[in-house]
Amino acid sequence: MAEPARPAAPAEPAGPAEPVLEVTGLVKHYPLTQGILFKRQIGAVRAVDGVDFVLGRGETLGVVGESGCGKSTVAKLLCHLERPTAGTIRYRGEDVTRLSGRALKAVRRNIQMVFQDPYTSLNPRMTVGDIIGEPYEIHPEAAPKGDRRRKVRELLDVVGLNPEYVNRYPHQFSGGQRQRIGIARGLALRPEVIVADEPVSALDVSVQAQVINLLERLQREFELSYVFIAHDLSIVRHISDRVAVMYLGRIVETGTDTEIYDHPTHPYTQALLSAVPAPDPEARAHRDRIILTGDVPSPAAVPSGCRFRTRCFKARERCALEVPELAVPAEFRYAEGPVAHDSACLFAAERQNVR
Ligand SMILES: Nc1ncnc2c1ncn2[C@@H]1O[C@H](COP(=O)(O)OP(=O)(O)OP(=O)(O)O)[C@@H](O)[C@H]1O
Ligand code: SF4
Ligand SMILES: [Mg+2]
Repeated sequence: MAEPARPAAPAEPAGPAEPVLEVTGLVKHYPLTQGILFKRQIGAVRAVDGVDFVLGRGETLGVVGESGCGKSTVAKLLCHLERPTAGTIRYRGEDVTRLSGRALKAVRRNIQMVFQDPYTSLNPRMTVGDIIGEPYEIHPEAAPKGDRRRKVRELLDVVGLNPEYVNRYPHQFSGGQRQRIGIARGLALRPEVIVADEPVSALDVSVQAQVINLLERLQREFELSYVFIAHDLSIVRHISDRVAVMYLGRIVETGTDTEIYDHPTHPYTQALLSAVPAPDPEARAHRDRIILTGDVPSPAAVPSGCRFRTRCFKARERCALEVPELAVPAEFRYAEGPVAHDSACLFAAERQNVR
């Protein structure tokens, strides 16, 4: 499938965009129970444990972090596939966690999800036309008047697939083409927000670039806002206006892509970035690789104080006693420039040689 050449990374936004989603104090705890007949709760998996962010119109927020840090749980909460334990998700000012019935259905339409695995997320027994048109069965109020089949063909065309493929089955497509089908289904109801959970992780590198280009083109065409989840830091930098780094259920650092990638102040972000292979041999020779020791603790037994302290190369006694808040650290509060961004560390400091 021919795609235009990879465009340059988008310029950073001039100012805060109009908020589409505002997430405050978002929590999802899964109860841990014991006993067969008489179940009693003995603890909780704190998958998401107090997440705050704002997503602006037409903006892409990248979310990164190691496996198990709660990225997919955040995605499911945003798309109402899971109910939060606490917190609010405001869509255009309205708290959608309190909605139910018809009001919830109307909001759900505007926030769609694109899944990681194009092989298992499409029903193999349905034709591509039925898969893409399925949202119209669930939301007939938002279905196009008249010929739905024609609309489905248009969607195939929009995502760069031949409209004549409408009667084919998922197994007749490559991985990249299947992800395009998943994206077409996500677009069917003309949503405002797309939550993409590792949308290119299962694809070959060459195909990844095509799907990213497609997402960028669709964002411009339809003024979409994206929450883009991935563990590949380079891809996240390419597509994101702002980035949130997650660790054990919380955002530990957030800012524009320049702030996070060129001026990280949280030791966890610095460690993640130091592990990204540097293409430039000069940069490679001069940088310190930060090796994280130990495993990520279980979200059912989160460390006291700073939850990163058991693996942090800078941890001190105070880190076990105080929970660092996600805010501009005191030492940078009056600083000018990209170092002054939110970082949940009691000893936040710039470290230049992580790139
Ligand atoms: N339904 C559930 N019941 C209990 N625990 C769960 C459930 N869903 C997720 N978890 C746990 O919550 C934590 C966060 O899971 P999540 O899938 O959100 O992580 P992730 O960041 O998406 O990881 P990955 O990068 O591997 O996809 C994990 O410890 C996971 O085992
Ligand atoms: S608060 Fe302490 S343990 Fe946590 S990231 Fe900062 S230095 Fe490390
Ligand atoms: Mg996940």
